[in-house]
Amino acid sequence: MFGRRTAPLDAPETAAKPAAAQRKPASVAKPKPAAAAPAKKAPPSAAPPRIAAPANDGGEKAQPVEIGGRSDEYFQTKTTIFNALIDTIDLSQLSQLDSDTAAEEIRDIVNEIISIKNVQMSISEQESLLQDICNDVLGYGPLEPLLARDDIADIMVNGSSRVFIEVGGKIQLTNVRFRDNAQLMNICQRIVSQVGRRVDEASPICDARLPDGSRVNVIAPPLSIDGAALTIRKFKKDKLRMTDLVNFGSISPEGAKVLEIIGACRINTLISGGTGSGKTTLLNCMTGFIELDERVITCEDAAELQLQQPHVVRLETRPPNLEGQGEVTMRDLVKNCLRMRPERIIVGEVRGPEAFDLLQAMNTGHDGSMGTLHANSPREGLQRVESMITMGGYNLPSKTIREMIVGSIDVVIQAARLRDGSRRITHITEVLGTEGDTIITQDLFVYDMEAGEDENGGIIGRHKSTGIARPAFWDRARYYGREADLATALDAAAE
Ligand SMILES: Nc1ncnc2c1ncn2[C@@H]1O[C@H](COP(=O)(O)OP(=O)(O)OP(=O)(O)O)[C@@H](O)[C@H]1O
Ligand SMILES: [Mg+2]
Repeated sequence: MFGRRTAPLDAPETAAKPAAAQRKPASVAKPKPAAAAPAKKAPPSAAPPRIAAPANDGGEKAQPVEIGGRSDEYFQTKTTIFNALIDTIDLSQLSQLDSDTAAEEIRDIVNEIISIKNVQMSISEQESLLQDICNDVLGYGPLEPLLARDDIADIMVNGSSRVFIEVGGKIQLTNVRFRDNAQLMNICQRIVSQVGRRVDEASPICDARLPDGSRVNVIAPPLSIDGAALTIRKFKKDKLRMTDLVNFGSISPEGAKVLEIIGACRINTLISGGTGSGKTTLLNCMTGFIELDERVITCEDAAELQLQQPHVVRLETRPPNLEGQGEVTMRDLVKNCLRMRPERIIVGEVRGPEAFDLLQAMNTGHDGSMGTLHANSPREGLQRVESMITMGGYNLPSKTIREMIVGSIDVVIQAARLRDGSRRITHITEVLGTEGDTIITQDLFVYDMEAGEDENGGIIGRHKSTGIARPAFWDRARYYGREADLATALDAAAE
C-alpha cells in the first residue's frame, strides 16, 4: 500500500507513549525493527498525552466558543491515533500521492488503528476523527473548520492553545487548539510555502495568501514569545455590496446614494478607518460605481479587491527574497501605474511615501482615484497623509504639502467598528481648501450616536446629513448629470 510503512501497526498500549518523544520527522521514516516495538512502550504513569492546555486556562471568564463540539477525551483519543498513524505511514511517500488518494490511504489506516486499539466511539465521532486527521496530515489541521465558515472575518492564533475568531464584529475565544507549537509552526510553514515563502527563526515574519485569497500574516518565535502568531483575514467569496451595507445599517440609503454619486462622478476619495473597520470592503463597494469603459489599475499588498469592470489591471507588491533582494514596493507600483495610461488608480492601502505619488496622480488627470488608510477621523486621515509625505523624505514645506492634499483629495469617508461590533460609515467629509495653514473640511453626513444603547448593548444611532445642500462637488455632479440625484438624496437625508 502506498504511503504505508512496511512494519506492522503498533500494539495497542504503545499509543500511550509521550508523543513528542516518539514522533519522527518524515525524512527518517524507516521500516521499524519488530523487536523495537515493545521497547518504545512508555510506562503508563509517565505518559501525559500530548494535549495542549485547555484554551481557557489562565482564569478567563469568557467561555470558549465550541467549534465542532470536540471534548477533551476526543482530543486525547485523536492524539493517540494520530501518533500511531505517524508511526505507520511514510510521509514522504504520502506526499507524492494526490490528495484524494492520500486521504483514502489515511482513512484506511486510521480505521485499522481504531479497530486494533479497540477504541470505543460512535460512527459520527469516528467520521469527525477521520476528517480531523486528514486535515492535520494534508490540510491546515485545526484551522480547517474555521476556514470553512464564511461568517468568520478573522482567525487569530496566539500560540498553539489560543485561537480567537471574529464573528459579527465581536472577537471570541474558541476551543480550537493545536497539538503543540510544532504543529502550529508546521501549518504556518505549509501555508506560506504555497506562495514560495518560508517562515523560520531566520526569517520569522511572513505575509502570504491562502489559495482562496485569504490574507495571512505569520510571526514566529523568537519574535513571538508564546509560539507562532498567525493572523488570517478570511476572504469573503461574496463580497458585501453597497445594498448590503445599507441593509446592515452601515450607511443610510441616502448616504449610499451620495457615495454612489461620489464614485460615479470621479471624485478623488480617501477611505479612512481603524483596523478591520471595513475600509477595503467599502473601497470595493465604491469601485462598483466605476463605468465599464474606464481603465482602472489597482495596487495592493495582497490582492483583496474584486472589481467587476472588464478593463482592470491588478498589481501586487512583492516582499524581498531571502537574500533581501527583489522587493517591489507600493511606491514602485504607483509610480509605474502612471506610465500605464490609467484613468483611475486604486491603492488598497496607503501607508508610506506612495501617498505622494497617489496625490500627484489625483491632481494630474486621474480623477476618481481612491485609496484607504488607517486613521480615526477624516481630519486625522489628512494629517497622516501629510506625515507620510514628510517621512518619505520629500523636502517640502508643510504649507505646500497641505495645498497639495487639498488640491488632490475631494472627499474622505470614515469607516469605524463601533464598540457593539457593528461597522458604520461615520463621516462623509469634503476637503474644501486651506485657510492660512489649516485644511478646511466640511461634513456632509455623520453618524449620530447620541441616542445611547439598547438593552443588548447595541448602539442606537442614525446617519444624518449636516444640512449642506450644495456640496463642493456639486458642479462635478452636474457635469456628470447627477445633480438632481444628489439634491434628492441630500434633501431626503436632511428631513
Ligand atoms: N459594513 C459592514 N458590515 C458588516 N461586516 C463588514 C462591513 N464592512 C466590512 N465587514 C467585514 O469586516 C471584515 C473586515 O473588513 P475589511 O477587510 O474591509 O476591513 P479593513 O478595514 O480593510 O481591515 P484592515 O485594516 O485589516 O485592512 C470583513 O470580513 C468584512 O466582510
Ligand atoms: Mg483592508
